[in-house]
Amino acid sequence: MKKNHLLISLRPTGLVQLAFALLLILSQNIALAEKQNCSAVSDKTCTTAHALKKGINLGNMLDAPWEGAVRGLKVEPEYFDLIAENFNTVRIPIKWSNHASTSKLAIIDETFFQRVEMIVDKFLARDMYVIINVHHYNQLVMKNLPPGEVSVDEEVVKLRLLNMWQQISLRFKNKSDKLIYEVLNEPNGKLNNTEWHSLMNDAVTIIRSNEPERILMVGPSDYNSIFSLAKFTPPKDRNIIISIHDYTPFTFTHQGASWTFAKDMKNISCCSETQTEEMKRAFITAANWNKSTGYPLHLGEFGANEKADMQSRVNYTKFARKLAENDSIGWTYWEFGSDFGAYDPKKKEWKQPLFEALTHD
Ligand code: BGC
Repeated sequence: MKKNHLLISLRPTGLVQLAFALLLILSQNIALAEKQNCSAVSDKTCTTAHALKKGINLGNMLDAPWEGAVRGLKVEPEYFDLIAENFNTVRIPIKWSNHASTSKLAIIDETFFQRVEMIVDKFLARDMYVIINVHHYNQLVMKNLPPGEVSVDEEVVKLRLLNMWQQISLRFKNKSDKLIYEVLNEPNGKLNNTEWHSLMNDAVTIIRSNEPERILMVGPSDYNSIFSLAKFTPPKDRNIIISIHDYTPFTFTHQGASWTFAKDMKNISCCSETQTEEMKRAFITAANWNKSTGYPLHLGEFGANEKADMQSRVNYTKFARKLAENDSIGWTYWEFGSDFGAYDPKKKEWKQPLFEALTHD
């Protein structure tokens, strides 16, 4: 029977079918080759890294000194559907440090905890991937604190981070696998590379004592810079995704941004060949690091601020997005409704060209 079947399928039409089948297999292999190298992590983590795809940061809301402190921005009920209908992933930056007691225990304020949990649950209920982090814990990285920051005893600063993760992990341990914890946004400044590695490993150990399998994100020093991947050693753990941030060309993306050296720059457009070459270099560095280590990457932040002209922002966004997607790297755009925002919260509408640059293929 089997032989007969083979003979029949090897007639001319059968041969054509066979050729198509071979082509299909070949093209699938090519597609597989384009996936990230996941040799250091579990299959589930690898699948998740690739499934994060398109995402957006709910920035300047829960990571502000208090919700509403930046431009009056708050997480509004209509944002859940608006984001879930258009993106696979939402990254929610959270400034827990301002909502926790000043002792080493860092007891998280219950009202704030409930608020975060409600927001996380709303996105999870819409089947989204949800990344929550510790954002703007400024005392870890800065000598002089900006206004609005709760200041604590220097001795308890790092312990508080660990105790915050202990509480978050205990509280959220039964949530969906689609919830991902990112240990710390953009380690930099006084938290040097060695200190960051040790703090990161301590935080991972604490989370693992409650949640052996939860997918965690960590990233390199110097603001999660791609160029610091070379000096980054991920925790020895099979459920880890590496978060990188990329704002090249920086003088374009951050022109007029008061908190950077580009604050006085203006009228810089995008994207010249020099600019795209710079962007490509960053992604080549990232892809090479992934190939040599086997840890999958996620682009946690990229974006251009509102001081740049809209057409250039669109050009930049499309180009950066494609660079990430060509390497099968999921991304979360910085950010939803503030100075880099793709949405206008006053008009209650997407900034259409930017929205299309993010969501249309
Ligand atoms: C910071 C934001 C900043 C953005 C771009 C984020 O990590 O939290 O405050 O606007 O990077 O610089």
